[in-house]
Amino acid sequence: MRHRSLGRSELQVPVVVFGAWAIGGWYWGGSDDDQAVRAIHAAIDHGMNAIDTAPVYGFGRSEEVVGRAIRDRRERVIVMTKIGLRWDKARGEPYFETVDQDGVKRSVFRHAGAASIQEEVEASLARMQIAHIDLIQVHWPDLATPVAETMGALLELRAQGKVRAIGVSNYTVAMMQEARAALGPVPLASVQPKYNLLAREAEKELLPYCAAENIGAIVYSPLEQGLLTGRVTASRTFAVNDGRQKRATFTPENRALVNACLDRVVRPIAEKHSATIGQIVIAWTVAQRGVTSAIVGARTSEQAIENARAGAIELIPGERADIRAAFAALHLSGALAPRSHSLWKALAKKILGR
Ligand SMILES: NC(=O)c1ccc[n+]([C@@H]2O[C@H](COP(=O)([O-])OP(=O)(O)OC[C@H]3O[C@@H](n4cnc5c(N)ncnc54)[C@H](OP(=O)(O)O)[C@@H]3O)[C@@H](O)[C@H]2O)c1
Repeated sequence: MRHRSLGRSELQVPVVVFGAWAIGGWYWGGSDDDQAVRAIHAAIDHGMNAIDTAPVYGFGRSEEVVGRAIRDRRERVIVMTKIGLRWDKARGEPYFETVDQDGVKRSVFRHAGAASIQEEVEASLARMQIAHIDLIQVHWPDLATPVAETMGALLELRAQGKVRAIGVSNYTVAMMQEARAALGPVPLASVQPKYNLLAREAEKELLPYCAAENIGAIVYSPLEQGLLTGRVTASRTFAVNDGRQKRATFTPENRALVNACLDRVVRPIAEKHSATIGQIVIAWTVAQRGVTSAIVGARTSEQAIENARAGAIELIPGERADIRAAFAALHLSGALAPRSHSLWKALAKKILGR
């Protein structure tokens, strides 16, 4: 596993980070806590010593499982979590309604006000039973709260020793600039955008900005929720409470298009490296300009080990170019533009003129 500096923070992060959304169960058709703990242990043992979670993943459950998994190895792990999505209290702007992994209806609100952030961080520390969070990230922009208020609260938590580094997620470049101005001499360590072979919007503005300004970019959904492993075959079905059932990229037509492209271009490269398709996709992702790490979700030890091993694979420029060209020429039907960038950019411009 290779490690890189996370922007101008003091953190050295693995190029493959363990994504802990799926182990919360919600959106992913349920999960098994013991299996999740084993997956995290396997990840850490194979050099994937950073974990990205969030309070909203499984409505507290992901953080609880992460806490259980790292109890006897806290000093070896970089813990990344988030603030800004409330479900435990009706605070801020209504964001979405959902049903959790236990069938309970949940309303999720976007809120990144100062008092709420302090409460959220205390709750995350308690759920994970840890004394500090290594990287705290604003999960989604809260357009109703001044960025300066949000950053001020995070600086205060940093001064209290409860968080080490400050990052954001799903922010536009303009929002990042505002956050940096509010942070003053404290670096904005990172941003977390969606980025994968099928969703490359971040390449236009965000990743070049990160590269130029030395801000870490830890990108999410690098496997397009499993589709880019080549293992989502035509016959694979998903549970009714697995969000991938309704995902535009998972229609039978799109599965066939993606799998054909993976078979034609990525499989031969994988064979040359004695690797799997998913490993080559991860290696491609972390080799792109501006990308620090890929956050890869896993539910089993086998997946975690396979994904961790991708952190050692280095593709040659020709291989990277062939993969890029093949996916640039691939047009999926009905696939949605990635929300993380376009929607927020449009909304922010409309509401705040920024
Ligand atoms: N900031 C944000 O707004 C945001 C949004 C989304 C995600 N994230 C973060 O990014 C992480 C990763 O994103 P993601 O979970 O959306 O998608 P992902 O990493 O692209 O895909 C993860 C899923 O792919 C499948 N998979 C993983 N490794 C595999 C392997 N080796 N072989 C076959 N299948 C494999 C697993 O699902 P199955 O086994 O069920 O098929 C797994 O749950 C999340 O866990 C979370 O930490 C952040």
